[in-house]
Amino acid sequence: MTSAKPVRSSQTTITELMIPAYANFGGKIHGGILLSLMDKVAYATASKHAETYCVTVSVDQVEFLQPVEVGELVSMMASVNYVGKTSLVVGIRVESQNVKTGITKHTNSSYFTMVAKGEDDKPTMVPKLILENEEEVKRFIESMRMKEIKKAVKDQMDDSKSKMEVENARTLLKDQRCEIKIRL
Ligand SMILES: CC(C)(COP(=O)(O)OP(=O)(O)OC[C@H]1O[C@@H](n2cnc3c(N)ncnc32)[C@H](O)[C@@H]1OP(=O)(O)O)[C@@H](O)C(=O)NCCC(=O)NCCS
Repeated sequence: MTSAKPVRSSQTTITELMIPAYANFGGKIHGGILLSLMDKVAYATASKHAETYCVTVSVDQVEFLQPVEVGELVSMMASVNYVGKTSLVVGIRVESQNVKTGITKHTNSSYFTMVAKGEDDKPTMVPKLILENEEEVKRFIESMRMKEIKKAVKDQMDDSKSKMEVENARTLLKDQRCEIKIRL
């Protein structure tokens, strides 16, 4: 395995035409189609860096900010933003272009955490990431911070705390849009 690789060595872009079969009942492109394409580009990017098979562990910040129309060309630009020991965070910027008007819109940016697997199907070490400009340094730090925040949220949501809150549910949920009618 190579010991360290630059971000540019695994950057990947895919472009796909949005055909009518990808549309939902409202005539816009299904979110699931875009997610599937994002998963593929995340895999391609992560496995190029890791030089091995990778699996998707988690997906962050999937927000479809603008609808994608049939006939548009969707491009996904992906790069490795962060590496841990066996995991990698791939950032994906999704843009959709209307070929007639030439107008391109940014539909979303999402972050896929992938884990590299060895021949034994166990997580395996990935090469370090060589950061060659300030943007790459910024993205690495942001991913590192996001990992810390996610861990803090997970700890905060731990099961024993939720159980305690259920006991105080009537007070906690009094302004929420739900009714408690427990069936015994
Ligand atoms: C991902 C997987 C290998 C992790 O296994 P594990 O026994 O928890 O392994 P570890 O605890 O050693 O964690 C391995 C890495 O994954 C990271 N990880 C584990 N769970 C994570 C989560 N929920 N979110 C983000 N990263 C996570 C760990 O931080 C660690 O990263 P590091 O080595 O860079 O520090 C295992 O859960 C798996 O195979 N999941 C199925 C993935 C899959 O098949 N996806 C396809 C869609 S079904």
